[in-house]
Amino acid sequence: MRTQVAIIGAGPAGLMLGHLLHLRGIDSVILENRSRDYVIERVRAGVLEQGTVDLMTSTGVGDRLRREGMRHDGIHLAFNGRRHRIDMAELTGGRAITIYGQNEVVKDLIDARLETGRPLHFEVGSVTPSRLTDDTPVVSFTQDGEQHELLCDFVAGCDGFHGVCRTVIPSSHLTAYEREYPFGWLGILAHAAPSSDELVYSNHPRGFALFSMRSPQVTRLYLQCAPDENLDEWPDERIWDELRQRLSTDDGWRPNEGEIFQKAVTGMRSFVVEPMRFERLFLAGDAAHIVPPTGAKGLNLAMADVNRLAHAFAEFYQSNREDGLDAYSDRGLRRTWRAQRFSWWMTTMLHRPPDESAFDHKRQLAELDYLVSSRAAMTSLAENYVGMPFDD
Ligand code: APR
Ligand code: PHB
Repeated sequence: MRTQVAIIGAGPAGLMLGHLLHLRGIDSVILENRSRDYVIERVRAGVLEQGTVDLMTSTGVGDRLRREGMRHDGIHLAFNGRRHRIDMAELTGGRAITIYGQNEVVKDLIDARLETGRPLHFEVGSVTPSRLTDDTPVVSFTQDGEQHELLCDFVAGCDGFHGVCRTVIPSSHLTAYEREYPFGWLGILAHAAPSSDELVYSNHPRGFALFSMRSPQVTRLYLQCAPDENLDEWPDERIWDELRQRLSTDDGWRPNEGEIFQKAVTGMRSFVVEPMRFERLFLAGDAAHIVPPTGAKGLNLAMADVNRLAHAFAEFYQSNREDGLDAYSDRGLRRTWRAQRFSWWMTTMLHRPPDESAFDHKRQLAELDYLVSSRAAMTSLAENYVGMPFDD
């Protein structure tokens, strides 16, 4: 087998890269170790930056997003019993976010890929990239018990944080930066109409909570918990009780309740690996960086990476120029570190760490108070939250 770009991983990064390469007439093969159903049903975040929405729309995969996505011009920050609205669109010249589940994005991109007839293989095993310093790298894998070799010009490592691509880079060529947080998120989906048109991020004495949604019938809620919280200790009534306490505000607002149909705990970390390239292997998305979910940046960073990478490949194949490929890592790291800073800031401002001192809590509240009363501070939050324009 021979292709131009071997893409490892069919998450948002790998699928969008395959789509962008297809539009430029560049061949790719996508290899995914999980099943199609698993990839589509995996529940993840759901906030799309303006740049992600624009990319999907301008490349022909935005029809359902336009119909079903929920555009939000603002968000609320809640503390001391009050909700404060930040009008992001007004502060950023009309930019906004759109609520649309990551699994919906993945579904739309899989449909688009299947329509092109280009290869997308699920449930492949033992995926191993090698000969990365040669002109023709090889990706070996198994499928239905048979061994295969895929020859290519480049390998795109879009295989997420636990993928294989980062691990085949010699450790002397990589530097990793990491921070773990002493808390996680317990997230639920419930059959309940959203009781607010926009998200509510709450800093409460009992810990952080977040109100979000997926559709006019489905509410998405999170509460701060221990990183290794045992879900068995969280019957539905305890979850609602905790959410009610952390989210209700003095104006009488609180989330609507309904049947909980999905529950999960996720830990939180910040992680960056530098550089994002080794010879003919390019890392994109979670394979290269992880952010805590508070800033809703993970999916959007992945989209910005593959947008830049697709432009660089196109430049290479059309004009035999390598400037874009050479600049890929530095430009990606600049965006990544900005998103890291923002996600870390949102996380530390809104959560209560187990060892928080009284001083730290007062400082947090002062920061929130400043934020909601200063146009300059709100603008800074807004432009980061809706996302910087994508570069290419
Ligand atoms: N071989 C083939 N596929 C692999 C391998 C492997 N060895 N290891 C992992 N994969 C697949 C995973 O099953 C997954 O489908 O790679 C894909 C990686 O997808 P994601 O983890 O979704 O990562 P990415 O595409 O970078 O998406 C960005 O942003 O919102 C955040 O973390 C969230 O997934 C999201 C990410
Ligand atoms: C979500 O809806 O899943 C969501 C929203 C905002 C975040 C993170 C996740 O910051």
